[in-house]
Amino acid sequence: MKNPESSCKMTLELPRRLRHLSVGRHKTIMSIAVFSVALLSAPVLDAQRSDTGIPHLVKHGTATQLVVDGKPFLVLGGELGNSSASDMNYLNPFWKNFEQMHLNALIVPVYWELIEPEEGHFNFTLVDSIITAARQHKLKIVFLWFGSWKNSMSCYTPLWVKTDEKRFPRARAKSGAALEILTPFSDESRDADAGAFAALMKHIRTIDGPNGSLREKSYTVIMVQVENEIGMIPDARDYSPEANKAFKAAVPQELINCLETHKDSLEAGMRNSWEENGFKTTGTWEEIFGQGLSTDELFMAWYFGKYTDYVAEAGKREYPLPMYVNAALIRPGYKPGQYPSAGPLPHLFDIWRAAAPHLDFLAPDVYFANFSEWIGKYDHRGNPLFIPECANSQSVANAYFAFAEHNAIGFSPFSIESLEDPDHNQVSQGYKVLHELTPLILENQGKGTMAGVLLDSAGQEDKITLGNYLFTVKHEYAWRFAERESGPTPRVGGMIIMLSPDEFIIAGTGMLITFETRAGGNSIAGIGTDYEGRFVDGKWVPGLSLNGDQTNQGRQVFLRGGKFTIQRVRLYSYE
Ligand code: DGJ
Repeated sequence: MKNPESSCKMTLELPRRLRHLSVGRHKTIMSIAVFSVALLSAPVLDAQRSDTGIPHLVKHGTATQLVVDGKPFLVLGGELGNSSASDMNYLNPFWKNFEQMHLNALIVPVYWELIEPEEGHFNFTLVDSIITAARQHKLKIVFLWFGSWKNSMSCYTPLWVKTDEKRFPRARAKSGAALEILTPFSDESRDADAGAFAALMKHIRTIDGPNGSLREKSYTVIMVQVENEIGMIPDARDYSPEANKAFKAAVPQELINCLETHKDSLEAGMRNSWEENGFKTTGTWEEIFGQGLSTDELFMAWYFGKYTDYVAEAGKREYPLPMYVNAALIRPGYKPGQYPSAGPLPHLFDIWRAAAPHLDFLAPDVYFANFSEWIGKYDHRGNPLFIPECANSQSVANAYFAFAEHNAIGFSPFSIESLEDPDHNQVSQGYKVLHELTPLILENQGKGTMAGVLLDSAGQEDKITLGNYLFTVKHEYAWRFAERESGPTPRVGGMIIMLSPDEFIIAGTGMLITFETRAGGNSIAGIGTDYEGRFVDGKWVPGLSLNGDQTNQGRQVFLRGGKFTIQRVRLYSYE
């Protein structure tokens, strides 16, 4: 398989803000010195983006932000269920719900089997209807390309692909059994996917691009995900003849060059495998990385990455919107093959970045409870954090944390159309306040002037240094004992944004906040003023002045759980 040479440029950036983390039992003082790695991007196509002002990514301090219609854009999204975009009669009744839930973007599948039912004959009726409806409901669109692979499988390939195993060979299990998975070692399959994806991107440009026939003054389609949860199952690698041949061949020099260039900044696992075998620079995959499941996975990740990059590049040549891939994460204790292995997972960042320079970032689908741990692995080495999927049952406090602590570009619960009570559910409540905060969040991302909080128990606390103060944030149940006894402890959290060294916006749910001055000595922190309020068109509108019982007579700031609120707090110090 021949792909254009990949570029694997990396540079280092400055460390981020100092942060104290305390988990109740001991205080861990961590200085998060993140040595970031600049985004890989297709230099050739970047010029196109900035010239025409189509949606694109820009650096903002240490953050990366999505720019839409010339302004930074924070995706308050929701992803549709897999089949929900295949019939507009089914989907149309839900558009008002998305507005009621204060979404500003919808993440929508586009199905290879439906846009190219016959080889070379394209039908974009659904795509046009989605874009038109999104415009009518003031929503942006992130399209998901359900092409060669979806949750590892090739179930969305058109029938003419599925039924021609000779032209479009399958991956095979170790047992030799055929799988409904296109092998990534087939140029024919790759070119067919790339052709369909390029046709889709050309069509999107034609109707929504700079001179798009359906475009009013703004762009509707803002990003595209290429494939969905690529990953090899039920074995760590493909055992088809094409795969076996590649596995026994030399590791591509292109990859060796990247590894040599970035030897000192490789992910630990990657580096260890290479080091254990003497940092060899020639040989087969097992000669260079050793024998075992991790080598099988590295091998597959390279070829999945190259195939996907070829598809992405074909699409970008038609319309260079930001493009990314998403990963199914790893359950504890699972081994490669048990989980969809070789996908864009944290331990494979080096391989995916080297293999797929036309992808702008790698994204996690976070359904597990340890949300903060997983998103931290993707806010890494300059990779922008975008969460295309997460459990719609988990608290939207996750979003506050992702935006404030990890400069996330966007957040999107899955199967959004299945949520009841769109006017009052927790996505609606949480997004309403996030919508008000968006200008302030975007202004403060990447500047070390904002922190996120996420707490799951009354025993947890988070310590944050901002401005002239050290904040201690506890779960509201650390104070409201009665509720604590009455059932499970809900996830709570939010964000603290510094307006000045003594003034802060605190937003979220279920947080109890105390503070100390950083001046030391006998200096004591006190509450100057504390208002609950709203932002209307970016302007602060104060409501209640909180004092007395609402601040425990000036001792603490308290955001009650069960709802999302904003407070503006002015602190002062005395001796
Ligand atoms: C993750 C996938 O990306 C989605 O398409 C969907 O299958 C969900 N899992 C279901 O939980």
